[in-house]
Amino acid sequence: MPPAALLLLCPLAAALSGRFWHLTDLHWDPGYEAAAASGRLCPSGGSRAGAAAGPWGSYLCDAPWRLLASAARAMASRLPRPDFVLWTGDDTPHVPDEDLGEEKVLHIIGNLTSLIKETFPDTKVYAAMGNHDFHPKNQFPGKEHRIYERTAELWRPWLNDASVPLFRAGAFYSEKLPSTSGRMVVLNTNLYYDQNAETAGEEDPGGQFQWLEETLTNASRADEMVYIVGHIPPGFFEKKRGKPWFRSGFNERYLRIVQKHHRVIAAQFFGHHHTDSFRMFYSDTGSPINVMFLAPGVTPWKTTLPGVVNGANNPGIRVIEYDPDTLRVLDMVTYYLNLTRANMVASAGTEEVPAWEEEYRLTDAFQVPDGSAPSMQVVLERISTEPRYLQRYYEFNSVSYDLTPCEEACRVDHVCAIREVDFTKYNRCVKARSPASAISSVCFLFFCLLLGLLGPQQALS
Ligand SMILES: *[C@@H]1O[C@H](CO)[C@@H](O)[C@H](O)[C@H]1NC(C)=O
Ligand SMILES: *[C@@H]1O[C@H](CO)[C@@H](O)[C@H](O)[C@H]1NC(C)=O
Ligand SMILES: *[C@@H]1O[C@H](CO)[C@@H](O)[C@H](O)[C@H]1NC(C)=O
Ligand SMILES: [Zn+2]
Ligand SMILES: [Zn+2]
Repeated sequence: MPPAALLLLCPLAAALSGRFWHLTDLHWDPGYEAAAASGRLCPSGGSRAGAAAGPWGSYLCDAPWRLLASAARAMASRLPRPDFVLWTGDDTPHVPDEDLGEEKVLHIIGNLTSLIKETFPDTKVYAAMGNHDFHPKNQFPGKEHRIYERTAELWRPWLNDASVPLFRAGAFYSEKLPSTSGRMVVLNTNLYYDQNAETAGEEDPGGQFQWLEETLTNASRADEMVYIVGHIPPGFFEKKRGKPWFRSGFNERYLRIVQKHHRVIAAQFFGHHHTDSFRMFYSDTGSPINVMFLAPGVTPWKTTLPGVVNGANNPGIRVIEYDPDTLRVLDMVTYYLNLTRANMVASAGTEEVPAWEEEYRLTDAFQVPDGSAPSMQVVLERISTEPRYLQRYYEFNSVSYDLTPCEEACRVDHVCAIREVDFTKYNRCVKARSPASAISSVCFLFFCLLLGLLGPQQALS
């Protein structure tokens, strides 16, 4: 075939868009297989009673090696040469600190680093640390630490020279994106976690906020657009009402920075929830100015957070399609493994390798032109007003694990978490939309009517 004919077959749009993987929350449980072999539940299952662990994993457990290797194979076969990879952390199992220790944590980070390196040998990987990638977990200091140093060593092949000293000092860095006019900013938001005692009294742990502001100011001067990447997101967990992660002052500062510098922030990509959701950011006048995408986890582990009902998920991975000139998100495709089915097929005795299927494509599922902030505002409006879009979003939220109907309280939890990253505004949103407040306003009205009726009589008597 002559080259000209090849060109005609190749749509121009495809040539202009780039693609990258986002994977997060692998949470490898190295004790899974041994426990299963002796008829026990995995170490990450804790004291919960559960069905026999399947070969591909269990909803009560973190990921067995076989599941992670299967995710890696799925990525290599769907898109072996992405422009780059985002890997937003949480590598170790949900077990007590006493069962891990610094060496074991580093060994797990090292092993998963090798898996990703072998899967994408010549690809740039932007890796961020998750709150489980430290010992003791969550206790990240805003200064040099052995674990930062050793992680920087493990990630040395992915880091630019200038990023290494930065990483050692606080596990954050920024680099120019290959073959675009953009920049990647990788944050260590574990510094802002309310479970982190190391940074509790500090105003700007590690000087990361100031560094971020400078980085964004410099990007603006250099006409660069940036992606911001991290593990723990600001705002609230959509599966538990009133549950934020950041300390309040850190949440405010993060929000202010995004509001001030939104023109250079093309999008934000975070993990930690294990669920598939997004967060909107608004200007003071209420226009949508930015969006943060929360990618689903690879681990199916059902959260033990009190108050969350059935908080497991199917393993998910995602490809983002973007415009290399502007970094605008053009589309997003999420792939998943139906873990129930994978284990059923395995127990039927076939040696079949389970298929990671396409779960959904953002623009098709929500009928929007792209993944820009204005488009995601349309998605949010659809979710909040049209029950069939709410249900669709809700099923994707657990990567098609929980297919039960999302009713009124569920709608409020999700819509308010997506819309309001700010603590005060979130609380107001939940109050205004809750049936309880509807009831109390009806009562109030009734009370006024009663006063109105009684008032004159009382005045007369
Ligand atoms: C990581 O662990 C798996 C499972 O134990 C093993 O098969 C693999 O060789 C390890 N990889 C490295 C690089 O240590
Ligand atoms: C911003 O640019 C100035 C001037 O080039 C440079 O000295 C500074 O290190 C940059 N700041 C960051 C955080 O990159
Ligand atoms: C996953 O597989 C199970 C078992 O085959 C099936 O009942 C369920 O509907 C599947 N889930 C989805 C989202 O297809
Ligand atoms: Zn996690
Ligand atoms: Zn986490």
